[in-house]
Amino acid sequence: MNSGTNALLGGANLTTLQAHILEQQQRNPEASGTLSWILSALSISAKVITSKVRRARLDDVLGSVGHENVQGEQQQKLDVISNEVLLRLLGGREGVAIVASEENEESVILRSAGAGDRKYCVLFDPLDGSSNLDVCGGVGTIFSILRFDQSASKPEDSLLQPGAQQVAAGYVLYGSSTVFVLSLGQGVDMFVLDPSIGAFVRVAQNLRIPAASKSYSVNEGNRRSFPVGYQRYLDWAQEHGYSSRYVGAMVADLHRILLKGGVFMYPPTAKAPAGKLRLMYEANPMAMLIEQAGGKALVAPGERVLDVVPSSIHQRTPLVIGSPSEVDHVMAHLV
Ligand code: AHG
Ligand code: MN
Ligand code: MN
Repeated sequence: MNSGTNALLGGANLTTLQAHILEQQQRNPEASGTLSWILSALSISAKVITSKVRRARLDDVLGSVGHENVQGEQQQKLDVISNEVLLRLLGGREGVAIVASEENEESVILRSAGAGDRKYCVLFDPLDGSSNLDVCGGVGTIFSILRFDQSASKPEDSLLQPGAQQVAAGYVLYGSSTVFVLSLGQGVDMFVLDPSIGAFVRVAQNLRIPAASKSYSVNEGNRRSFPVGYQRYLDWAQEHGYSSRYVGAMVADLHRILLKGGVFMYPPTAKAPAGKLRLMYEANPMAMLIEQAGGKALVAPGERVLDVVPSSIHQRTPLVIGSPSEVDHVMAHLV
């Protein structure tokens, strides 16, 4: 490409998410394209949700719907809208057998008869950090893709696999730009939505999380009800000049940590004795992404998030995740 053309393209390589997915598919001679179709539904969903989030105030869809979801938390109007978008788009993809969402008590079985092409389960948090919406803060979508187990006695049982078996995981951050971060099990790649062409453009390949950074991210308002080891860690971190950064939307906090380093924690609390975050569609996909980028994600010393065998789709877990040295510092105070 000559320099004139380069200037026209702003120096960007212009590999779209779509092209990236096809590239990955071609590298795997056994790939049938089913997963690519599912990822394309997630990419379109991300564009639709971007537009809904950006227009929320103008379209008067801020605020809560007035009742709680299955988690006992206030559902925001945009939680419901984003959930609908994902259910509809994924529902149109033949390869999806089951979807499970934070916003639905039961998983939705789309196709349970006949072998066919129904190969995958998709679990998602349609809008993470949705209480940030009213104040124009960052929110996100998180997804996890598992293989559908044709031999499971009930289709739902197919969902209860440890996170280590995820085929793909990713998140979308609706921040000052919309960012799509994806892992297909071979590193982590990042894409930014170019609104002028309506496509996600690849901006980084094989991201690596910084090994250390003196920054922690936790809701310190809960400190008095954390197990004592976490309190000892916080004392240690403050004595050692750490900064505190907490957005209150895990996608936004972990995106910062992926790029700049640090550690994110949601310990058990008096209100949430098993932790607040959901294993299957919050902790697992984030753990896969952070591990793929060279980080760590643990529920307790020596216990990887990705090894937890789930017993229900909405189960919660404590979570310590981020730069490897920073996770180690937390764990050293928990033993
Ligand atoms: P969601 O909006 O999907 O329910 O998730 C909110 C989660 C997570 O994003 C965030 O890190 C955490 O809840 C914040 O919880 P606290 O307000 O208790 O700190
Ligand atoms: Mn969430
Ligand atoms: Mn949510």
